Amino acid sequence: MNEYLLEMRGIVKQFGGVRALDGIDIKVRAGECVGLCGENGAGKSTLMKVLSGVYPHGTYDGDILWQGEPLRATSIRETEAAGIVIIHQELMLVPELSVTENLFLGNEIRLPGGRMDYDAMNRRAVELLAELNINDVNVVLPVKQYGGGHQQLIEIAKALNKNARLLILDEPSSSLTSSEIAILLDIIRSLKAKGVTCIYISHKLDEIEAICDTIVTIRDGRHIATTPMRDMSVERIIAQMVGREMNQLYPQRQHTPGNIVFEARHVTCRDPDNPRRKRVDDVSFTLRRGEILGIAGLVGAGRTELVSAVFGAYEGPFEAEVLLEGRPIDTSSPLKSIRAGLAMVPEDRKHHGIVPDLSVGQNMTLAVLHQFAHASRIDGEAELRTVNEEIARLKLKTASPFLPITSLSGGNQQKAVLAKMLLTRPKILILDEPTRGVDVGAKFEIYQLMLDLARQGMAIVMVSSELQEVLGISDRVLVIGEGRLRGDFVNDNLTQETLLTAAITH
Ligand SMILES: Nc1ncnc2c1ncn2[C@@H]1O[C@H](COP(=O)(O)OP(=O)(O)OP(=O)(O)O)[C@@H](O)[C@H]1O
Ligand SMILES: [Mg+2]
Repeated sequence: MNEYLLEMRGIVKQFGGVRALDGIDIKVRAGECVGLCGENGAGKSTLMKVLSGVYPHGTYDGDILWQGEPLRATSIRETEAAGIVIIHQELMLVPELSVTENLFLGNEIRLPGGRMDYDAMNRRAVELLAELNINDVNVVLPVKQYGGGHQQLIEIAKALNKNARLLILDEPSSSLTSSEIAILLDIIRSLKAKGVTCIYISHKLDEIEAICDTIVTIRDGRHIATTPMRDMSVERIIAQMVGREMNQLYPQRQHTPGNIVFEARHVTCRDPDNPRRKRVDDVSFTLRRGEILGIAGLVGAGRTELVSAVFGAYEGPFEAEVLLEGRPIDTSSPLKSIRAGLAMVPEDRKHHGIVPDLSVGQNMTLAVLHQFAHASRIDGEAELRTVNEEIARLKLKTASPFLPITSLSGGNQQKAVLAKMLLTRPKILILDEPTRGVDVGAKFEIYQLMLDLARQGMAIVMVSSELQEVLGISDRVLVIGEGRLRGDFVNDNLTQETLLTAAITH
């Protein structure tokens, strides 16, 4: 019997001129949970797509041994039949189909005669979700009725339904709340107890530390090390990932906020389906020139709704009075807000941030194309120059600005969305979860950029679920709970406990 469940040997994967994987070797023992770590663009997702048959045999070099036998899969179906199941970084659910239909897509239960057995599938769907402790989902409703966290859990339930021997989770936790993450980690522990092997990818290294037995680090498409977690620490994982010690996770703050430049008054958002219910209830706040204002609170507290309403992007009925430099401005739609000097990087990159059919560069200049228009022609050279400058400034990793944006790694797509908004040269920048899916090194760069912008006088609002990050970078912190303002703190010896207490106390 082979000691390893899986061996990948000398895997090379090229996309045109880009060598995403440059001869990677990894080995995985049966029953262990492997943390696959690396910076944005290191090749984690690509390696897992090779393994799971997304990239069929013949489109990469190298060998895969599965239970000691060569695996030369040409489709995901084949790898699933072999017991390899992947949960992708970007959700793959079909929004219009019901929860049950999504759970059984390609895997339907049929009656004799071939018709679908909806009763059996619905029953099994309820069971599967119950195993994940999800009891508030109606399985016959379309998936789009549910938020990101629930959709992620539905995706996990779908994978569990396939009886995996090896379960690959590519950043499963980025849209989960901390209680949902706790559920997820418990699920992985119980799968492990049942003998299921896991490969877990996450930029949240505390999760990796909590759950993984072995750490595999890769950098620039090459294998760096395979180390038992007991010999590792979060600091060492980071050092292996970035290739140097990082003794500081947050840059020094050295700016002083000036006068009040921005005010949002009486922001109220109503539930689109039930206008009597207020998701944000009469919240007002101010912002100073060069200030970074963190907005903390539990998921579902109304933080995203609050900032979306301020920017005119809230999808239901809302009211907000917004003043910039003492004058009321029209922020009733995102376009008007951008014209008035606001910019927002939304939480949901895939649906509101990127246009998947356009290139990296086209996505970046989308909001400022008029700047390059001369006599109804676009000055392509000027546009390209600007794009290249932004790519360099944000250290955005792409082989060319002409590649489709969807070919970028998750963290680099996030940088492209940030670039798009910065090009509008806003006075007020709103960032909703700006470092979701971003690696530690790139997080530092984004913080540095925020601090530089603040020093130049930009006022920044940052919604974040990571309290450490809120404390690491904000000058002031608002706490939102159940749609109301629960606290407004200057970030001076402020602690996570203070913020959490404010979030949950009425
Ligand atoms: N379809 C593609 N076409 C061109 N280049 C690609 C494609 N898919 C991936 N790449 C490139 O391969 C490299 C590795 O990307 P990959 O998505 O595997 O990174 P990752 O480690 O998963 O990063 P992240 O943590 O940001 O998700 C990147 O430079 C990426 O731009
Ligand atoms: Mg990835």
